[in-house]
Amino acid sequence: MEKRDELYAGKAKSVYTTDNPDYLVLLFRNDTSAFDGKRIEQLERKGMVNNKFNAFIMEKLAAAGIPTHFEKLLSDTECLVKKLDMIPVECVVRNFAAGSICRRYGVEEGIALTPPTFEFFLKNDALGDPMVNEYHIESFGWAKPEQLTKMKELTFKVNDVLVELFAGGNMLLVDFKIEFGLFNGEIVLGDEFSPDGCRLWDKDTREKLDKDRFRQNLGNVVESYELVGQRLGLTF
Ligand code: ADP
Ligand code: TMP
Ligand code: ASP
Repeated sequence: MEKRDELYAGKAKSVYTTDNPDYLVLLFRNDTSAFDGKRIEQLERKGMVNNKFNAFIMEKLAAAGIPTHFEKLLSDTECLVKKLDMIPVECVVRNFAAGSICRRYGVEEGIALTPPTFEFFLKNDALGDPMVNEYHIESFGWAKPEQLTKMKELTFKVNDVLVELFAGGNMLLVDFKIEFGLFNGEIVLGDEFSPDGCRLWDKDTREKLDKDRFRQNLGNVVESYELVGQRLGLTF
């Protein structure tokens, strides 16, 4: 597979065309962004760590029957994926309260959400990724009702698989964000799953091991991402 032109440079990854119109190369950069791109810094090794972490998780999800765009690792910082027609909506599941849900509803960080709750956000940095509901998504034509049903079903299935996986490494999956797209008309998991887009706490101490370390200036950001991987048996 030959890597060709840069199609898009996002906040943390760059996307390249290949000689096959159905496939893209994702390049994981060291750029680390928070607050909808208002703060961006370079963190050494982060691109490599997230690329390998994402490959590991995508393979676990595929093995559990979730359709994903991931094909294979190409290098330390690149992977090959199916080219999706991305749906501009982010799917978030929360098992514990943290981040925006605490600010929005005045709830204490760390309370268990039983059952886990689900939210859609519009992927639009300029608007600050506002929360949207299914009526908005349907009325504005961002996705069809049956596609939303599938996205919710798959997101909860991802939650079931990953809560158990992280529990094996003595971690709590607090919340996460994933994105879907269409490949030949079917809903497929796209983008990435890494500590950049989820919250993970040590089960005993509740120490934060994810991008909140960057957002809250707690230090050891990439070291914590590597620790998460190592607890799952990954080596970088
Ligand atoms: P952002 O766009 O939010 O700044 P990134 O820096 O991670 O995010 O850029 C990656 C971009 O590639 C995202 O916009 C994402 O929606 C898009 N993308 C991820 N996977 C695929 C795919 N399989 N096909 C097409 N686009 C994808
Ligand atoms: P939030 O608490 O800021 O709403 O985020 C919930 C989870 O989703 C958290 O793990 C971070 C992740 N997330 C992203 O990675 N990117 C986003 O644009 C949004 C809205 C959330
Ligand atoms: N992913 C978003 C950003 O890069 C939101 C965040 O992580 O705070 O700005």
